[in-house]
Amino acid sequence: MKLKTPKILIVEDERIIAEATKHIIERFGYQVIGIAKSGERAIEIIQQQHVDLVLMDIILHGKMNGIEAGTIIQKFDIPIIFITANANDKNLHAVKFTDAYNLLVKPYNKVDLKAAIEITLYKHSMQLQVKNSEKKYRTLIESLKEGIGIIDHNYCFFYANHELSKIIGLPEEKLIGSNLLKFLPERYQLKLRGIFENKHNSDEAFEISIPIISSGQNKFFKLKITHFLEKLETNKWFVIFNDITDLKITQTVLEEKVFERTNELNKLNSQLSKILEETVQGLSRTVEIRDPYTAGHQRKVSSLSTEIAKALNLTNFQIESVKFAGLVHDIGNMKIPIEILHRPRKLNKAELALIKIHPKIGYDLLKNIHFPWPVADIVLQHHEKINGSGYPNALEFDDILKEARIISVADTIEAISSHRPYRGSLGIDKALDFVNAKKGILYDPEIVDCALLLFKSNKYTFSDV
Ligand SMILES: [Fe+2]
Repeated sequence: MKLKTPKILIVEDERIIAEATKHIIERFGYQVIGIAKSGERAIEIIQQQHVDLVLMDIILHGKMNGIEAGTIIQKFDIPIIFITANANDKNLHAVKFTDAYNLLVKPYNKVDLKAAIEITLYKHSMQLQVKNSEKKYRTLIESLKEGIGIIDHNYCFFYANHELSKIIGLPEEKLIGSNLLKFLPERYQLKLRGIFENKHNSDEAFEISIPIISSGQNKFFKLKITHFLEKLETNKWFVIFNDITDLKITQTVLEEKVFERTNELNKLNSQLSKILEETVQGLSRTVEIRDPYTAGHQRKVSSLSTEIAKALNLTNFQIESVKFAGLVHDIGNMKIPIEILHRPRKLNKAELALIKIHPKIGYDLLKNIHFPWPVADIVLQHHEKINGSGYPNALEFDDILKEARIISVADTIEAISSHRPYRGSLGIDKALDFVNAKKGILYDPEIVDCALLLFKSNKYTFSDV
């Protein structure tokens, strides 16, 4: 692309000097579009045609001097080279306060003039590029739907686009210089300050969701903040404001619904748990109705087992498991002839063999009920012993569920300490001595120690049940 020849206007009231200058400039390859003898005439020419550069003498005939005319011409965004024969302080001071690009002092030579023209045209073209670029970015930023602002280290707005002015509800001119913090509820002011202090020396962008009080209403925004440090200037932060009020409202409504549904489910769940517990207690009572000698046995075993499980810091699931399994652990006795259960003497071998099938019968009765806990398995294993001498499967230590090992200890303590058809109560001390003596042989030592501690520290007694 062929570059256009720059058009220069000479403003000079001495004809001979003006013509000589014109001649020189044209020989440099520029186009002189006219010679104005006064500042007024120069302004007229500029209004009528395109001018790339003005060569302006400071001393002019007419009402305006060169400085006054130059001040008006600059508004047309045309660069000026002032020329003076007298570089006194007054002239230099006056030129300094215009946006003049250059000052030539007479007499100057051709080289000085050419350099001044070229440098001035180049500097102006550079400034135009910067201005165009700024204009492009400003247009882009102004057209964005997000609020864009620049704040300084005191959180005061240094720049705000139109959308941000709408968000905050203040005209741009009032927003500039205002403090962002004054639009935030107090606790968010502290939060924002804290985050800014933490990120003070970080180049990474960060985000924060905050409410902004806009026209008396609380609106929610996600702020994306990037730090930049300008040369020779204080810290500034580039902030993008994204309105998330609708999202927040939806989120709040959803949270409320989830909360409501969770409450309903919890209520339903606790009703179901209550029904389940009542059903299991009903089952437990059927055994006791048939066998009044062991009335309360299952309830007491369940109660002691639950306390042991709690004291051992087992999970809630395990605690519930021993509680429910304890309540029905002897349900298999339903199938044992009542006269054997009530026989007021020690049982013979055949009778004992019959009694020993009750865990398996209990298991068969319970295995098809879909308890959330392994109730049937615990019931099946509640007469197993850790040395493998138990029944029905002669399991050893780790093969026996922890919950069944707990019920085994609680069952023994309760049975010894209670009245039985073939003997009176031996008392709790005898019961505790027995399990202690068999600790590590028949019973899990950790569970025995735990049970002993519960009774001996008076944290538990069967009379509470
Ligand atoms: Fe039993």
